[in-house]
Amino acid sequence: MCNSCSTTHLQWSGKCSSCGEWNTLAEERVDRSSVARAARASRRGGGSRVSILDSADLGDTRLALTVPTGSFEFDRALGGGITLGSVTLIGGEPGIGKSTLLTQFLVCAAKEHRCLYVSAEESMPQLAGRISRLGGGESSIGILIASELQEIEGQITEFKPEIVVIDSIQTIADSDLASSSGSVNQVRECATRLAEVAKREGIALVLVGHVTKDGTLAGPRVLEHLVDTVAYFEGDRDSSMRVLRVIKHRFGPVGDLGIFEMGNTGLADVANATGVHLSDRVAGQAGSAVFPALDGRRVMLTEVQALVVPTSSEQPRRVVTGLETNRLLLLLAVLEKKIGVRLHNKDVFVSVAGGVKLSDPAADLAVVTAVVSSLVDRPVDPSLIFVGEVGLGGEIRSASSSRQRMAEARRLGFSRCLVAAGFSDDVPGMFAVKVKDVRSALGEASLIRQGAAG
Ligand code: TYD
Ligand code: MG
Repeated sequence: MCNSCSTTHLQWSGKCSSCGEWNTLAEERVDRSSVARAARASRRGGGSRVSILDSADLGDTRLALTVPTGSFEFDRALGGGITLGSVTLIGGEPGIGKSTLLTQFLVCAAKEHRCLYVSAEESMPQLAGRISRLGGGESSIGILIASELQEIEGQITEFKPEIVVIDSIQTIADSDLASSSGSVNQVRECATRLAEVAKREGIALVLVGHVTKDGTLAGPRVLEHLVDTVAYFEGDRDSSMRVLRVIKHRFGPVGDLGIFEMGNTGLADVANATGVHLSDRVAGQAGSAVFPALDGRRVMLTEVQALVVPTSSEQPRRVVTGLETNRLLLLLAVLEKKIGVRLHNKDVFVSVAGGVKLSDPAADLAVVTAVVSSLVDRPVDPSLIFVGEVGLGGEIRSASSSRQRMAEARRLGFSRCLVAAGFSDDVPGMFAVKVKDVRSALGEASLIRQGAAG
C-alpha cells in the first residue's frame, strides 16, 4: 500500500504508479480478523434511521458549539474556532510547531472546557514543561501518555473530555492489527475509530499528522477524506514565520490563513502580516518594485528586486528566485520587442524578497518595472505599487481582487498604484494610475520618457 495516496498494489515497486511518489510502498498484511471487523462495522449501520431535519433546532446551536482557540490568527483560519463534535487534522513537518500550537489552544480552552492531551511521542515531564512554559502551569489539562488505541478509547470514555488532542495519529496503533504503527492501515483505522468516538460523544478531536518527505510514515493525505477540517502548518526552518493553511473545512470557508511567529513564549499572532515581508526594504533603491500578493484571501505586500549587470560570459545569465524562470524570459522578450530594451549583453537577476514564491501573473508589472529600474539605475517612487499581468503584446491585463490589494496597500501607506486600464473601482486614498501597455506603465513610473522610443 502506498503511504502517500493509499492505493493498493499487488507487488512492490520503487515508485507508486498512482501518485508518482518514490519509496512510499510498504507491505500491509490483511488478516482475517480485520476483515471481519470491517464487515461488522458496516453492519452496525443497520440501526440507522431517517430523521427529518427541523431547521428551527439548528440555528443557535452552531455558535455555541465552536470553541475559540485563544489566538486571533488561529480563529481566523478556522472561521471562529474548533467545533465540538468535529475532527480536525493539523499536518506539518516535524519541528514546525504543531504541538506548540495545540498546547496553546488547550491552555486557553481548558479555562472553560475539559481537555485531554494524548501524546505518544513525549514524556510527562516534557509535556508538563511545555504546558507551563506556554502559560498553562495552573491549568487543568488532562494528560495521557499512551500509544494503544483501546487504552486511549477507554480513557476518553472515563475522563469524558470535550476537547481531545492526539499527538500524533501516526504513533497510535490498534494492537489487534498486524501492521506496524504509522502504516496506512493503522493510521486509517485509528483515525476512523477515534472519529467515531468524537462524533458520538460530541468531542472536538484534533489529530496531529506528521508530514515526512521520505514516505516512511503514512501521510496525513490518507486521512483527509475522513476528517471535517484539514489544515497544514508550514514555514521555513530558517525563519520564525509560520502559516496555518486550511485546505478543507466543513464549517466555514477555506483559503484563509493564520500567520504566526515562533518565539520564546510559543507562537504569537502576527498582527500586521500584510507588511512583514517589507520590513527590511530600503525605499528609494533602483531595481525594486512592490507587489501586493494574494495568499489565500490575504494580501501580503512583497518586494520584487532585480539586478541588471553587464554580462561577463557569452551566454547572458537569467537567475530567478521566487518566480518562474520562464515567466521572466517571457517578460524580457516583451520588453525587448515592445520597448526596444536590449538585454542580450546583460545578466538579469530577479528575486522576491523574504523567500516568498509568486505564481500570480499579476506580479508581471512589478517584475518588468524592477528590471527596467535596475537597468536605467533609477528608483521608482516609493509610494507606488504595481498590479497587472503583462500580455505577449505588451498590454496590461487586469488582475483578480485588485481593489482588495490596493486597499491593504493603502493601509500601509502606499498611495499610488499602477493598474490595468480596465480597473474601474475607487479605493479611497489610493490613486489608481491606469495604464494600457508596458510603455505607458514605464512612463508613468518615470523610468522611460513618455512617448520615447528605445
Ligand atoms: P513543536 O511544537 O514540538 O513541533 P512539532 O510538534 O510540529 O514537531 O515545536 C518545535 C520547535 O519549536 C522546537 O524546535 C522548539 C520551538 N519552540 C520555540 O521556539 N518556542 C516555544 O515556546 C516552544 C514551545 C517551542
Ligand atoms: Mg510534536
